[in-house]
Formats: sequence, structure tokens, C-alpha cells
Amino acid sequence: MNTEKKSSEKIYADAVTVLPGGVSRNTIFHKPFPHYVSGASGCMVTDIDGTQRIDFANNMASLIHGHAYPPIVEAVTEQLKKGTAYTLATEVEVRYAQHLTSRAPDFDKIRFVNSGTEAVMSMVKAARAFTGKSKIAKAEGSYNGTYDFVEVSQVSSPENWGPIDHPNRNPLAFGTPPGVLEDVVVYPFNDIENTLNLLDENADDLACVLIDPIPHRVGLFAATDAFVEAVYAWTRKHDTLLVFDEVITFRTTYGGAQQNYSVKPDLTALGKLIGGGFPVGAFAGRSDVMSVMDPNESPLRLPHSGTFSANPITMTAGYVAMQDFDQNAILDLNELTARAISQINEAIKLADVPMSISGLGSMFRLHPRRNAPESYREAFQFKEEKAVMTKILDHMFYKENIIMVNTGTCMFSTAIGQQEVDRLSQGLMNAFKANKAELNEVWDRYHEKHKKADPKG
Ligand SMILES: Cc1ncc(COP(=O)(O)O)c(C=O)c1O
Repeated sequence: MNTEKKSSEKIYADAVTVLPGGVSRNTIFHKPFPHYVSGASGCMVTDIDGTQRIDFANNMASLIHGHAYPPIVEAVTEQLKKGTAYTLATEVEVRYAQHLTSRAPDFDKIRFVNSGTEAVMSMVKAARAFTGKSKIAKAEGSYNGTYDFVEVSQVSSPENWGPIDHPNRNPLAFGTPPGVLEDVVVYPFNDIENTLNLLDENADDLACVLIDPIPHRVGLFAATDAFVEAVYAWTRKHDTLLVFDEVITFRTTYGGAQQNYSVKPDLTALGKLIGGGFPVGAFAGRSDVMSVMDPNESPLRLPHSGTFSANPITMTAGYVAMQDFDQNAILDLNELTARAISQINEAIKLADVPMSISGLGSMFRLHPRRNAPESYREAFQFKEEKAVMTKILDHMFYKENIIMVNTGTCMFSTAIGQQEVDRLSQGLMNAFKANKAELNEVWDRYHEKHKKADPKG
């Protein structure tokens, strides 16, 4: 037996002595140990043990052109020589702001921050400052970053999710102040009747209703037109803002997923791809709302700053990334992803396994279900289902050398081509076949549980 330890394993032994769990972000935690990168280019990542993998995760949807995209490397290298952060403004933030606001008609003004979490948090605070109200409504199961208020009921489960007409407000982190829960209304995504009733019950207190138009953790399916329109109409009647989290979904069309709806949000949070591979967030929207941060205003309703906000490295990289992610690039990428979905659906059929796919634009998610789920509660995976999904993802990682997001999701980059898509669909077919018996078993169990919960279904 080969007893020599791999070098990633050796580094991890040191990592656990200084980082909780050996990691700086739980996302990259991987049993038995995370793999350390030696380099990456385009759609390929090489680890220090010499294994090269195709990257379909792209740092959780943030690398729209893949790794070390030459135009970004070149532009950032030039900027690095001129300095990385100043206590003065830079022209590039203005040019980039002009570019981003030109992409969506409702982006009158924009502010840059350093992460998607900060973007959502600042957007919520702007909504509160503008309306003078304190509550927010967010979808059950939705991941909107790590601000206490938007974390509520992010991972609700059958044991604690409560009735669908009044989903429980479950804290995510131990020690969440009870006051946080009191100021959050949890609504069932795409369920118009129950959502409007819940909003009505809190009509005087809601600063904003937060919608991610294609929420990844809810199940990666789109908010229906009827749902968005109904919520929009409700907010107009009650002096409440409609705010979108497009941290991931801005990739789906030139002006974000909001382009697909007849009504537009008052504010939108952005992140991930708009940083060109560097830490970023932004929030954009109505001039009158954004003026709560305007230092010329008195009183200043929302003092807002950030040491590294709009830093010239991120601005330079993001501007290049988004200029190159134009209408044609988006159409091509969405078309390639649609082909991947169709090839994987074919693999599901050939392997004859109870699997399905949801998603649109340049992303999709696999589900251990015969039909793609249409609600968070349908998409929710029990322990055994998660275990078989982990086996499939481990098969992809170790046997096929393909990196996917740990929810069974792929987030494409323009560095991916047909060849990689072929490897992905073939790899998945192998993974499905290798786990067929278990997939059938968890499906049967799920089906039984589901029938018990809803005898009509
Ligand atoms: C929809 C959504 N909103 C907000 C965030 C938070 O972004 P960040 O990780 O940059 O703080 C994420 C991150 O995954 C996200 O997916």
C-alpha cells in the first residue's frame, strides 16, 4: 500500500492547526481534505498533486471568463503598477458605473462594495432608510449572503419549516438575536396567495420584499411573471420597495434576469461576475432611493463607506469582464449551457435514473427527483438524498476530474466549449450508472414520504 501522504493532505494537516476546520470559507471544505491549487487557466484548474480538472463551478459563479483571462490579467497588471487603493476617487469606477447602469433601464445610480453579502445588506439598509420601516420579506430557503436578517430560514427543514401559509422564522446561526427574527417575514417562493397574505399581515412595517429571481438554494428555477407582478403591485400599494438579489442571476441576460419581467425592482444587488475574479458587490436602482447615501443630503439617512469599495483593481477587472460579456457572448454561453442540459437529460434517460435538471441562462442544477422541483419544499433534500448527491459529485471530482458546485450545480464560463460539455455529460452518465441503485432507493423513499405528506399527490 502506498503510505506516502499527498501534498494537499500535508498542507491540510497544517491548515487545521490555524484555520477553523482548516478552511477560510466552508464552501471549499471537502472531505477528506480540500485540494490546494497550483495554477489555473481558462476552464482548467491544476492542484498541487498534479491533477487537472475542468472547472464548472468557477468560484461559485464569479469567473465569467474562466481563470486568468488574458485581457483581465493585462489590464490588472497595468493598474497594479499604478497602485491598488487610494483615499481618492478613480476614473475607472465612473466608467464602470456608466457601463453597468447602461445595461439595465432601472439602474439610475450604483454603489460599489466588496461582496454580494455587503451588497444585499446595504440594499436592505437603503430600503429601510428610504421607507423608515424595519421589516424585510425574504423567501424560504433562499441564500442571500450572510447578513443576519437575510439568513433567516435559509436552511429550513421539515422538522422546523412550519405551515406553508406561515413558514417559521428559523435563525441560521446560533445566537441570532431574537429581534432579527421579529423583523423578517419568510414567504414561500412563487406561492402568490400565501405570500400576499403574509405581506398583508405585515403591511405597515415592510421596508422591502427581497426576491432572487432564480434562487439557487431554493432549487434554481425562475420566479414566475405572475409572482413578481403580484408582489410588485402589492409593494406599490404599501410604500414598500421591491428589491432583487441578482448576485448570481445578472449573468443570465444583458441586463440581468429582471429583463425578463414586465415590472422592475426598485433596487438590485449585484456581485460575483461583475468583479472579473476579484472581491466585489454593488447595488443599483432608483435615484431617489439611492440618494439616502448622498453626502450632500441633510440629514444623511444612510452613512455609507467601505475602505476597499470601488478599489481600482476590482473596477479594472470587472469593467473588462463585463465589456467582453456582451449580448453575443451571453447568447453563445446560454446556448452552450442549453446544449449541456439537453445532453445531460439524454444521459439521465440512457442511465435510466430518477434525476432531473432545473436552471436557465448559463447555469443548471441536478436534483435526485424524476421531475424538476417547483418549490423549496419539493427541492429540499433529505440526508440520504444529500449522501447520494455527494457520491455523484465525488465521482465527478475524483474519477472524471470535473469540478461542480456542491449542490450539484454548474455555473458556466466563456472558457468552456463543446468538448468540455461532452466530458461533463459523459462523466455524469458514468456517475449516474455507478449510483443507480442508490438513486432509485432514495427516490422510492422520497416518493413515499411525499405521498404521506400529501395523499392526493
Ligand atoms: C444569491 C446570492 N446572494 C448573495 C451572495 C453573497 O455573495 P458573497 O459570497 O460575495 O458575499 C451569494 C453568494 O453565493 C448569492 O449566491
